[in-house]
Amino acid sequence: MATHDLQNHTLNGDHCDHNIPISKRPKLSSPSTTITNATIISNSQIQSEFSHHVASVARINNGSFGSCPQSVISAQKQWQLQFLRQPDHFYFNQLKPGILHSRSIVKSLINADHIDEVSLVDNATTAAAIVLQKAARSFSEGRFEKGDVAVMLHYAYGSVKKSVEAYVTRAGGRVIEVQLPFPVKSKEEIITEFRKALERGRDNRKKVRLAVIDHVTSMPSVVIPVKELVKICREENVDQVFVDAAHGIGCVDVDMKEIGADFYTSNLHKWFFCPPSVAFLYSRKSNDRDDDDLHHPVVSHEYGNGLAVESSWVGNRDYTAQLVVPSVLEFIDRFPGGIDGIKKRNHEAVVEMGEMLVKEWGTHLGCPPEMCGSMIMVGLPICLRICNESDALKLRTHLRNEFGVEVPIYFRAPKDGEVDPVTGYARISHQVYNKVDDYYKLRDAINKIVSDGTICECLPN
Ligand SMILES: Cc1ncc(COP(=O)(O)O)c(C=O)c1O
Repeated sequence: MATHDLQNHTLNGDHCDHNIPISKRPKLSSPSTTITNATIISNSQIQSEFSHHVASVARINNGSFGSCPQSVISAQKQWQLQFLRQPDHFYFNQLKPGILHSRSIVKSLINADHIDEVSLVDNATTAAAIVLQKAARSFSEGRFEKGDVAVMLHYAYGSVKKSVEAYVTRAGGRVIEVQLPFPVKSKEEIITEFRKALERGRDNRKKVRLAVIDHVTSMPSVVIPVKELVKICREENVDQVFVDAAHGIGCVDVDMKEIGADFYTSNLHKWFFCPPSVAFLYSRKSNDRDDDDLHHPVVSHEYGNGLAVESSWVGNRDYTAQLVVPSVLEFIDRFPGGIDGIKKRNHEAVVEMGEMLVKEWGTHLGCPPEMCGSMIMVGLPICLRICNESDALKLRTHLRNEFGVEVPIYFRAPKDGEVDPVTGYARISHQVYNKVDDYYKLRDAINKIVSDGTICECLPN
């Protein structure tokens, strides 16, 4: 735990854009690390940790690919060299203990009960395949009936939707999408729609076997009230709940006991500074014998030895992204409050930047601040005339190519009768390396496009 008062310390030193006092060391951090003024990372050290980023580009899209500091990249290189120097020794003596160590760190960060509940896999897509393949086997082996239901959000991530189609629909399951409003005003709107979807799932006396719930939706990005939705699932006897939190750890609160899902995955390479690619998949231990029927989609020597062990060897490949978790912890413990401090400051900064932009453009945010993590949807000027997804992609490309701004753009179809609807939103992210100038660059780029009278239809493909 921190041994000194961290009040008034600012993340970015004298250039700090968002002076947020940290009054206490939050719980999601290394349990044993002591942080002192001497070890607190300075603004120039942060910049040097991310000095491999192209300096001329405003990277306000941490949400898509994450970021990895130099110290972690160096640690990864060391692991890679250890393998290349003496692979036999690495394989027999270092790999499994290394992965076990990373899993134990994740276990305490996420407040899981048991190390066996935590597996390391490549990414959230792989984790979704693991959970959904289990559902597919339940259909094919007769534990689920044809027509039994899986519920997922309309805004579920594209690859997860395809996986649900591939494993659930093809196995005979019926998929019900929860329609969500956007812009969203309150979590109650989401809870109401979720309840409606569960009711539809029980039509024809079928069982709702699985709920797939995002913790933070990707596009549009909104923090979903997962705790409340998991509780409703329990009350309504939904068999199992899988939380897709690709943007979870480092972006929102991730506590397995509080959330109470059966399965929960979070990438470690998005908001937790790991290199690509690594995610954890938590699977809650229960007395159900069926629990053991969770397998890595790539079958190898460890098949049948439990998901965590299966996942620790899926053939010859580079496992070093999984091995650097201790180095990531060292990095984040140089920040006041560890990962929770980082998360809090990113949240406050992204809200501040979002509010600055919507004020400039006379638009609005896609959700209230308490429904966003480290990303927020910012309404773009109506006069850009973003009329479809192609326009949104053209604007994104134009911002990257002509202005050096990396930011995803979302198209929202207007509702019938809406007057002057905002149809385009930029999803801005904030991570520790970002500066106010990055957001000014986006503001100025959009202002220039507007003042030139350019509409999105006229932008190059
Ligand atoms: C909500 C959500 N689920 C799943 C994924 C897939 O993550 P990955 O590409 O790391 O597998 C993403 C990626 O952005 C996401 O936002």
